[in-house]
Amino acid sequence: MKKLIGLKKTRSAVFISGTGTNLKNLINFSHKINSPISIKIIISNNKKAKGLKYSNQYKIKKQIINFKNHKFAEKKILKILFKEKINFICLAGFMKILSKNFIKKFKGKILNIHPSLLPKYKGLNTHARALQNRDKFSGCTVHLVNSKLDSGKIIMQEKVKITKKDTTFSLKRKVLKKEHKLYPAAIKKILR
Ligand code: GAR
Repeated sequence: MKKLIGLKKTRSAVFISGTGTNLKNLINFSHKINSPISIKIIISNNKKAKGLKYSNQYKIKKQIINFKNHKFAEKKILKILFKEKINFICLAGFMKILSKNFIKKFKGKILNIHPSLLPKYKGLNTHARALQNRDKFSGCTVHLVNSKLDSGKIIMQEKVKITKKDTTFSLKRKVLKKEHKLYPAAIKKILR
């Protein structure tokens, strides 16, 4: 008798707001046989997010949610996620802060990637702040999402060296490259 091989993948959603290089990277990762996730839906708060193109390209459902009314937006997202039987959420350049109430519904199941070595530089403009402070290193962090901004349990971090020649642009590019390695590794760590 033929035996079915392969593990059941966790039904996941990726939330974006912008370019979506992490989204693309996670989609490619999800297609690997040993990946623990399968991406069922892309959620964006921004209808102009470039990353939305990956929905068509990879035939993944998408939903654009207007966050003018935050509470209503989250309610709408929760409805979609339950309908799609989503068990895991990856925030990938998602620039909205999720409420306590939302996070409670997916406790320990929401990951975020942040472009700094947390707890340093929570919030925005991380690369500019690292350069301004003449830091020797920067990097990225994957952490669990809790109700405080960029403060949940750290799962993995990766460092990059800052050189004298670095600009916010070059540093962002260097860190993104590391992010694309780190995010899949952190997902494996959490889900396997
Ligand atoms: C990434 O650098 C990610 O770490 C950062 O936004 C960028 C999104 O790039 N996230 C945050 O700043 C969250 N606070 P991408 O759209 O190309 O994946």
